Amino acid sequence: MPNKNNEAKNIIGVFDSGLGGLTVFKHFLDSLPDYNYIYLGDNARLPYGEKSPETIYEYTREAVEFLLESGCNLIIIACNTASAQALRKIQQEYLPAHWPERRVLGVIRPLAEHFANPKFKKIGVIGTKSTIAAGAYRTEIKKLSPQIKVLEKNAPLLVPLIEEGWAKKPETKMILKKYLHPLKTEQIEALILGCTHYPFLLPEIKKIMGKNVEVPDPGEIIAASLISYLTKHPELELKKTKNASRQYLTTDNPRLFKELGEKFLNQKMSKVSQVKISEL
Ligand code: DGL
Repeated sequence: MPNKNNEAKNIIGVFDSGLGGLTVFKHFLDSLPDYNYIYLGDNARLPYGEKSPETIYEYTREAVEFLLESGCNLIIIACNTASAQALRKIQQEYLPAHWPERRVLGVIRPLAEHFANPKFKKIGVIGTKSTIAAGAYRTEIKKLSPQIKVLEKNAPLLVPLIEEGWAKKPETKMILKKYLHPLKTEQIEALILGCTHYPFLLPEIKKIMGKNVEVPDPGEIIAASLISYLTKHPELELKKTKNASRQYLTTDNPRLFKELGEKFLNQKMSKVSQVKISEL
C-alpha cells in the first residue's frame, strides 16, 4: 500500500487508535465530501488511553509515518490521547526532520479554541486516563482564557464498553452517571467530550447533564476548523475531486471493523483492509 517514491497524492489521512475516530470522520464526510481520505484505526493496539506517553508517541509516529508513506498531504489525529501525548513531538521534531512539506494536526487545539469562550466560567472535560493526566485541555484553554476554571475527569471504562457495542446498555448508563456526577455537582456550564468514543453516548450525556450544560459534538467543531485550515493553506495542494476516494484501514480484524464501523458511521464502507504499521 505505501507509495514507493513517497510523493503526496492529494489525500487527507485520519488517524485514531480504533473506531472512535469515525465520530470525527463522519463530520468530514458531511462537510468536506469532495476530498480523498484514508482512515486508519490501530485497533490491534487499542486502548492508547492506558499506555505510557513513550508508547503512545511510538504508536502514533508509526501510524503517521504509514499514512505519509501512503501519500497523505495532511493528517488529522482524531484521537485525543495521541493528540495529547504525541502531537507536539511529531510536529516539532519528526515532521521537520523527515517530511517538512506535510502537516499533522490534532483535535485539542480546535476544541480548546471553541471552549475558551469568555461566556464560560467553569467547564468540564472527560477523557482517557492519559489525556487527563497530560492536562492537555486545561493547558490549552488556560493559554487562551486563563480565567476559565477547567475540571477534568477520566472515564476509562467507557471506551471498552463502546468498542464492545454496549453504548445503550443500562450498565453503561450507570457508569456514565457515576463519572459525570462530580462535574454535575460542580455546576459546570459546558462539557468537552475529550475522547473520540464519547459522542456515541451524546444523547445520554446531555440527558444526565441537563439543559443548562452545553455539550457539543466535537466532530462538528473539528470539521469546521479543518474547513478553515484548508482555506488558509493552499500550499498543501489538497484539491477537491469528483468521485473522491475513501480507504478504510485497520491493524486488526477488517471484518469486525466493517461490521461495527458501518453502524458507527451510519453508512456503507466499500472495503476495509488490514495493514501492518509496526516493525514488530
Ligand atoms: N481514541 C482514544 C481517544 O480519543 C480513545 C481510545 C483509546 O484509549 O485508545 O482518546
